[in-house]
Amino acid sequence: MTTYSRITGTGSYLPPRRVTNADLTAELAAKGVETSDQWIVDRTGIRARHFAAPDVTCSDLGAYAARQALEAAGVAARDIDLIIVATSTPDMVFPSAACILQNKLGMAGCAAFDVQAVCSGFVYALTIADSMIKTGAASKALVIGSEVFSRILDFNDRTTCVLFGDGAGAVVLEASDTPGILSSDLHADGKHVGILCVPGTVSGGGVLGDPLLKMDGQAVFKLAVGVLEDAARAALAKAGKTEADIDWLIPHQANIRIMQSTAKKLKLPLEKVVVTVDQHGNTSAASIPLALDWAVRGGKIKKGDTLMLEGVGGGFTWGAVLLDF
Ligand code: UT7
Repeated sequence: MTTYSRITGTGSYLPPRRVTNADLTAELAAKGVETSDQWIVDRTGIRARHFAAPDVTCSDLGAYAARQALEAAGVAARDIDLIIVATSTPDMVFPSAACILQNKLGMAGCAAFDVQAVCSGFVYALTIADSMIKTGAASKALVIGSEVFSRILDFNDRTTCVLFGDGAGAVVLEASDTPGILSSDLHADGKHVGILCVPGTVSGGGVLGDPLLKMDGQAVFKLAVGVLEDAARAALAKAGKTEADIDWLIPHQANIRIMQSTAKKLKLPLEKVVVTVDQHGNTSAASIPLALDWAVRGGKIKKGDTLMLEGVGGGFTWGAVLLDF
């Protein structure tokens, strides 16, 4: 009897246009918005990000990442029976990016839906897929995080537009009689809606409200460092493990200072933290699977390693997943 789910393949995709801090600083200066490479590096650790071309969508990026994950897992698209896309920047209001991506992969029939938990989206989606596999509702899932955050950035707001990028990451999660996903811990607290949001929607043929990202960076920062530690500790406790069992911490890639602080609280040396924020910026729901795939393909993460994935973001949402890779 199947009692576990296990990641059998990973993939990722970054759109080809790489924008360094110097590129972005020059573009912003031309419109009178002042920033600098030094400020961005010192405060966030970000050196570059990728921006998708105007005609490229969330499902496009996700499909590229998904194909790579399928290939790595040795699984045919037709054998997938569940697709979950974690995103806050879907192609359309509806249908879901997952349905559009399913069609792009030449698939039909399996369950497909999006999860909207902003930067915690991937740990939410992975937990749902794990639960569906454990109950027998699915046996081979594609779990994808894909974002085109460049579409919702206000390039007149230097406090946010330098932070985010576009990209996608994907995993194939399969039923297994060995673990696998060991535990997860998810949370949300809706009273913090206002500190990180895109307060707009479509209505009556137009946009109602403001469709650009707003963030109170300091408030998010303070909440993030506390809840990330709590979620990681809760996931460890549920699995009967301790910090010493973690081979790799793969945190949401928003700010190197948040990652350093979380690692310190968990008594993990920085060498055990997967860091891609310097090259990818904050890609929201895509950041964890992108970092995972980068570390797997780079030979850092090996089969059997114990990984702690953790995300935090708008909602406010946060969570962690502990797994044996
Ligand atoms: O993905 C969801 C999770 N999101 C996050 O985790 C983001 C969490 N927050 C952060 O990462 C940080 O709070 C930021 C990177 C957003 C900001 O860093 P900070 O150290 O909290 O800076 P601050 O907001 O306190 O701003 C310090 C100064 C301000 O100037 P004054 O008031 O001291 O004169 C800002 O106006 O830096 C100024 N500033 C900038 N200067 C140059 C803000 N943005 C910029 C900029 N370039 N891009």
